[in-house]
Amino acid sequence: MFKIVRREEMSGGTVVLNEIEAPLIARKAKPGQFVIIKANETGERVPLTMADTDPVKGTITLIYMVVGKSTALFKTLKVGEGYQDIIGPLGKPTHLENVGTAVCVGGGTGIAVLHPITRGLKQAGNKVISIIGARSKNILILEDQMRAVSDELHVCTDDGSYGHHGFVTEVLKTVLDKNKVGLVVGIGPVPMMKFVSKITKDYGVKTLVSLNPIMIDGTGMCGGCRVTVGGKTQFACVDGPEFDGHLVDFDELTLRLQAYCEDEKECYNNFCTLKA
Ligand code: FES
Repeated sequence: MFKIVRREEMSGGTVVLNEIEAPLIARKAKPGQFVIIKANETGERVPLTMADTDPVKGTITLIYMVVGKSTALFKTLKVGEGYQDIIGPLGKPTHLENVGTAVCVGGGTGIAVLHPITRGLKQAGNKVISIIGARSKNILILEDQMRAVSDELHVCTDDGSYGHHGFVTEVLKTVLDKNKVGLVVGIGPVPMMKFVSKITKDYGVKTLVSLNPIMIDGTGMCGGCRVTVGGKTQFACVDGPEFDGHLVDFDELTLRLQAYCEDEKECYNNFCTLKA
C-alpha cells in the first residue's frame, strides 16, 4: 500500500491534496511526469501529473479535482490509509532550459502540474512570469507556491473576485506585448490551452501544453490516449504528456474527452447514492 502522509482540502473541498509515500518514484520523478493510481483492486486506473516530489522524505504530492466516481473514492481516503497501486514515473519530463524569459500560464488544477515546471524553469536561470486563473477567488489554488517560484505573478478570476477580472489569455497578451518571451507553458482546461496556443502562435512564441486524454495502461500499449499533433497520431503517455501547443488538434481532444461523459455521470451518481 502507498500510504497517505498528508491530506488537505482546497477550493471548498472540490480539490484534494495527497502527499503519499512512494520513495522509488520520488527519487526518479522529474517535473512534467505523471503516475497512474488505483485506490483498490477493482478501482479505475487514474493518471495524475505530480504536483511535487520529495526524494529525501520519499513522497510524491498529487492534487486532484473531485469530478467523478474514482476521485470521489480517493477523497474518502484519510491520512494513514492509502492507494493499492501507483505506477510511475511515466511520460517524458519537461525539457527545462534557459530561454531568457519564460511565461507559465495555469488554470484550475493545471496550476498544480505547472508548479514544479515553473520552479524548474526558474532554477534553469530564466526570468519567470506566471499567470494563474480560476473561476473565482475561493477556488484558486497554490497562489503562494507559484509566487515563490516566479519573478512576477499575475492572478485572474473569471468573476472578478480577485486580481484581474477576466481570463489568463487577456493578461498573456499584455505580457507578450511588453516582454521578449522565449517559451510559454500553458496547463489547464483544454479550452484554455487551445486559446493560449492560438495567441502565442500569432506572436511566434514556442508553446508547450500538457495533455490529459483518457489513459488506460500509460505505457503505449492500448492506444486510448492517442492525440493528433501536427497531423500525426501520438500517444500522450509515452510521447507526451507535453506537446507543441501550435500543433495539437484541440477540437479532436475535446471530443474524445467527452466520449464517456454520460457513463461517468451515471457511475458518480450511483456511487453518491450508495454512500448516502
Ligand atoms: S494510455 Fe494506453 S497507449 Fe497511452
